[in-house]
Amino acid sequence: MKVIRVQNQVEGGEIAFTLLKESLTKGAKTLGLATGSTPITFYQEIVNSKLDFSDITSINLDEYVALPIENPQSYDFFMKEHLFNHKKFKKNYLPNGLAKDLDKEIAAYNQIIAENPIDFQILGIGRNGHIGFNEPGTSFDMKTHLVDLEKSTIEANSRFFASIDDVPNQAISMGIASIMESKMIVLLAFGKEKAAAIKGMITGPVTEDLPASILQKHDNVVVIVDNEAASELE
Ligand code: GLP
Repeated sequence: MKVIRVQNQVEGGEIAFTLLKESLTKGAKTLGLATGSTPITFYQEIVNSKLDFSDITSINLDEYVALPIENPQSYDFFMKEHLFNHKKFKKNYLPNGLAKDLDKEIAAYNQIIAENPIDFQILGIGRNGHIGFNEPGTSFDMKTHLVDLEKSTIEANSRFFASIDDVPNQAISMGIASIMESKMIVLLAFGKEKAAAIKGMITGPVTEDLPASILQKHDNVVVIVDNEAASELE
């Protein structure tokens, strides 16, 4: 893993965008996208650029189950607000957490990923080391699947909801196996609450107890961290 230290989230977004531009120059056609506060500055760079994305497909990592897409906390809403309403893509895919038949939706999402191999995957990281919504203990072999969210994740995400009871307790997430198939992965982390997860991911054993640690086995990963997120590294 290549680690790049930055002063702040704005600089982190700029560097991630520079890496994206390099990938696009080399012919990248499909982007894997993430939600959460972490990639927002990266999306601002895309929005503020004059780059044409009309030939680019995006596939998002995850979506809550049973949360209407009009809800500002849905990932569909988030992606429109921060990126898709401002930059036209060829096609934007997110899991449909409102599907009546979730098994069918999951199979269809795996098909979408198979037909659109991801060239450039952007990732944030949860405090417990989750990526997408792959919580600790998730098999590294999983493709898209239904997830029961951990209490710590529900608590962390409750800051965006009126009350903790409003946070969905399930999500559909792309699995680790799909994430690992991306040609290039750029993981961003900012703030001291990510420091332990970053340390474990980079220097700890590769273990399903810390899902992001699997990235040690990928040959094209760039980790962009601010000083706080890097504070537990040597
Ligand atoms: C959620 C998302 C993850 C994200 C994580 C961290 O659980 N499913 O994709 O990386 O939160 O969020 P934040 O970037 O707001 O710290």
